[in-house]
Amino acid sequence: MSELRVRDVTEADLDAVLTIRSRSFGPLGAGGQGWWQRVADETVGGRMLVVVETADSRSASDRVLGSGRIRPYQQVWGGRHLPMGGVAGVYVDPAARGRGVASLLGRALVQRMIELGDVVSCLYPTAPMLYRAVGYELGGGQTRLTYAADALRALRSVRAGVSLRAAGPGDAARFEELARAHQQQNRLSGPMLPTAETWRAQLADTEMIHYLADDGFVAYSLGGGVLTVESLVAQSPGTAAALWSVVGSGSSAAPVVEAWLDPRDPVALAVGGLPDAGVHTVPWMLRVVDLGGAVAARGFAPGLVASASVAVTDPDAPANTGTWVIAVSGGRGKAVLQQPSTVPTRTTHPRSSGHHPESSDHLRTAAGPAASGHDEQPVRLEARGLAALWCGWTLSRLRQAGLAVGGTSSDDAALDAIFAGQPFMTEYF
Ligand SMILES: CC(C)(COP(=O)(O)OP(=O)(O)OC[C@H]1O[C@@H](n2cnc3c(N)ncnc32)[C@H](O)[C@@H]1OP(=O)(O)O)[C@@H](O)C(=O)NCCC(=O)NCCS
Repeated sequence: MSELRVRDVTEADLDAVLTIRSRSFGPLGAGGQGWWQRVADETVGGRMLVVVETADSRSASDRVLGSGRIRPYQQVWGGRHLPMGGVAGVYVDPAARGRGVASLLGRALVQRMIELGDVVSCLYPTAPMLYRAVGYELGGGQTRLTYAADALRALRSVRAGVSLRAAGPGDAARFEELARAHQQQNRLSGPMLPTAETWRAQLADTEMIHYLADDGFVAYSLGGGVLTVESLVAQSPGTAAALWSVVGSGSSAAPVVEAWLDPRDPVALAVGGLPDAGVHTVPWMLRVVDLGGAVAARGFAPGLVASASVAVTDPDAPANTGTWVIAVSGGRGKAVLQQPSTVPTRTTHPRSSGHHPESSDHLRTAAGPAASGHDEQPVRLEARGLAALWCGWTLSRLRQAGLAVGGTSSDDAALDAIFAGQPFMTEYF
């Protein structure tokens, strides 16, 4: 009888994986081979898994049915950077779909991220229920705001003599340094931090335009009558005005500027025109892979002193399971396990549905007084509820969605304050 199993991809599998990719998203376009080579360089050897089918347990050969990979990112949360596994390239051969291949893969990817030391994971879903079943929940969006280029051009009047120069690959380390400081000082949550190596490649891309000031930079492109800002960092109002107005100076050729930045980028407070009302957002999902490690690595509001208990059930990341006290002070946090896991780990049957019997019991036992009001037991969450909490969904919203039960109103208030935020991403992957 044939069986499904997960293993690391090898160089010899790459053609089969690319065929499945083409059958899932269409053929690679121009320049696609170079991109595919970069994908392989980044992920073969630990960060790409395949689900294979073997004719029987004694068979030496197997057939690749699907794959998924984990991109190695640094992501900022509360102004501190932590290792995030960016799940991408999940696809299954059309003939093998509907058999639980992607579900099996999803659980294996979570397990691999635990081994790699990624403390959270993010992805842009096309099939959200697939990812909900392995503990992901909606975290935030990648938002595109559209401005009239003329309105940005007008900011040149407050540019205050700031000088800009064209930047090239030799400025990569400075770009990384400025972006890191910007994310830390503004205590951002959600964006990734490109490495200097990534910047070096982008700064060599002649289709992008880069300018550098003493305390900021802009990375943008021009095409199809639109100026697209991919990154803009400025510590002072004069530099912000200089960078935005240099983009807006293209208004005669391109009347529209699209910015994939913080929806609360302060340009909205400076520009003399409102962004276009048609805001476009691409949603992303998050999973907490290692609760203890993630809380220790994240930044929290510096003025907040708070603590609360949560009881977590997470069969796919069993070390998250248990009752935790999460405490923050001085901008740092820690999650201390009070009661280690008594919940069995999930058996890895390939055709398991998204609903975990053991974890739904976990929420069900808390129904009754906890579902309607509060009791002295901690708030109970499964992995999805924990993910949403991490991303700033309030406890009242989680309760309305059926993702949290039990606990006290003071725990709710403390958890809301601890995880308050509106995370966003600026990069699609
Ligand atoms: C989405 C995809 C990976 C699913 O693979 P699969 O092996 O058939 O998935 P599973 O059998 O494990 O299904 C698990 C769950 O995923 C969800 N799912 C599967 N296919 C889906 C689809 N086409 N649309 C929406 N949700 C889907 C369902 O919730 C499903 O549970 P159910 O069967 O109980 O309803 C596969 O259809 C595919 O490769 N699609 C094209 C590429 C793609 O969209 N990849 C996802 C990138 S984020």
